[in-house]
Amino acid sequence: MKKNKTSKNWLNQRGRDIFFKKSKAYGYKSRSAFKLIEMNEKFKFLKNNTYLADLGSTPGGWCQVAAKKILKGKILGVDIKAMDQQKNVDFIIGDIENIETHNKIINFFERKIDVVLSDMASNTSGNKNLDTYRTGELCLNAMTLAQKILNKNGVFIAKLFMGSIFEEIKKKAKKSFKKVVIYKPTSSKKESKEVYIYCKDIL
Ligand SMILES: C[S@@+](CC[C@H](N)C(=O)[O-])C[C@H]1O[C@@H](n2cnc3c(N)ncnc32)[C@H](O)[C@@H]1O
Repeated sequence: MKKNKTSKNWLNQRGRDIFFKKSKAYGYKSRSAFKLIEMNEKFKFLKNNTYLADLGSTPGGWCQVAAKKILKGKILGVDIKAMDQQKNVDFIIGDIENIETHNKIINFFERKIDVVLSDMASNTSGNKNLDTYRTGELCLNAMTLAQKILNKNGVFIAKLFMGSIFEEIKKKAKKSFKKVVIYKPTSSKKESKEVYIYCKDIL
């Protein structure tokens, strides 16, 4: 009974959510698409010839946004879950916590790339602190790959939740990149502790 009420509330909230409605209207596979649109408007990293890896890409909203801008570059989505095929987007199924997945991504591009995105989030466990920590670990793993694969002026953007691991992430970012900005898109729910870290220019 309680569960039904909770899921009804969730459905009602989602129905009222302007970005959820917008994603349906624009044909995006996720409301997250608008976060990437907003971040690109601010930081301008999606260009016609960009080489880009999108970590945690399923269901594919960010790849759709990237594919509208990148016509001559390369887009690779990576996720532990399958993603539907998209025109001009390649996909690898793999766990970013596994070094073999890093090697597959490096081998796919065969060159340094311009942008590494991570919208990865761990499965919700019911324990918010644990989820924050696990998503932070995914962000650190993505940053390790970014350090290996990005060109000197490369851009790394990743989701994280404000919490215990935040300082560790910021410290590693400041050691690895010249520019580090913490940014919360307006399309990210106000009540969520979600933010994105934007990093540019490898040190
Ligand atoms: C919020 S969704 C990403 C939404 C996507 N940006 C979009 O616009 O459609 C987070 C994704 O991270 C993926 N993920 C979680 N842990 C992962 C891991 N260890 N390796 C790769 N992907 C992972 C999940 O499977 C999930 O699809």
